[in-house]
Amino acid sequence: MMRTTGTLLGIALAAAFLGCSSEKTTTEKPEVAKPKTKITVGFSQIGAESSWRTAETKSIIEEAKKRGIDLKFSDAQQKQENQIRALRSFIAQGVDAIILAPKVKSGWDVVLREAKEAGIPVVLVDRGIEVPDPSLYATLIASDFVEEGRMAAEWLVKKTGGKCKVVQLEGTPGSDPANDRKKGFEEVIAKHPGIEIIASQTGDFRRSEGKRVMANIINAKGKDIQAVYAHNDDMALGAIQALEAAGMNPGKDVLVVSIDGVRDAFLAMIEGKLNATVECNPLLGPAAFDAVEKILRGEKVPKRIVVKDRIFTQETAAEDIKTRKY
Ligand code: AHR
Repeated sequence: MMRTTGTLLGIALAAAFLGCSSEKTTTEKPEVAKPKTKITVGFSQIGAESSWRTAETKSIIEEAKKRGIDLKFSDAQQKQENQIRALRSFIAQGVDAIILAPKVKSGWDVVLREAKEAGIPVVLVDRGIEVPDPSLYATLIASDFVEEGRMAAEWLVKKTGGKCKVVQLEGTPGSDPANDRKKGFEEVIAKHPGIEIIASQTGDFRRSEGKRVMANIINAKGKDIQAVYAHNDDMALGAIQALEAAGMNPGKDVLVVSIDGVRDAFLAMIEGKLNATVECNPLLGPAAFDAVEKILRGEKVPKRIVVKDRIFTQETAAEDIKTRKY
């Protein structure tokens, strides 16, 4: 029953997208087809906690403009309840599709069911969610965060010979990247008993929190710290400030590795203060709208589209920065 309803809604959406009417026309008085020139998409963004997220927002807004899509943008100011409210408003306005960058993994079932019942497909970007019914969203376009955590850990193992005391700065609690970057990192570190994670605390993906939390850890644990692993560049950049304020030497005595690959991270690597960053590409606009347009034409899209990442290090940062796009 659900599948039949879904199929019918899909056909209706495809017809709307192509500007076709499913109603009959007579031969005597042919109706002029009214092409629907614009599609309307609602985009619910988490906020602007990091430069990564600002780059993602820009990519989606610019791509919508390029394609002549009417984009309704909502900034949730870091609150899931604001995202849920935005989704309900998009549904009430009858958008053709929704793009959602979900703050946390859980708590989406009810509102996504409302979107499904209204026949509005939902494309998830950058973070995954947990829902009992996977048909509540069409696709997830995001990096493999577990793999990113593994890459950071493998770099650290190689650089330290498998021996150091490391501080982990975690992302937003309950979010997909915080869970998976921790999982991937700790999975590799567990095979190296010479590496000890002496503290692991959230800095909420923000630079100011990275600085504050790192300063607290130095106060509580002392300066016997050889490495910092931050779940994003902004927290690493904040931690670098705290390390310097404590008279420590980030990038030299204290290795710093993080994730995202934003421009400021490359500048910090060129300055010798950050050692490595694992790229997490935020330029998701083109892939997100490719998916939206395919879905509205009634074409299939893969349930999971993985964005490929790689690690960048201090040694090649001056050259690499020339081709960076965010
Ligand atoms: O979901 C991606 C993460 O969220 C990025 O690593 C981080 O900078 C952002 O805020």
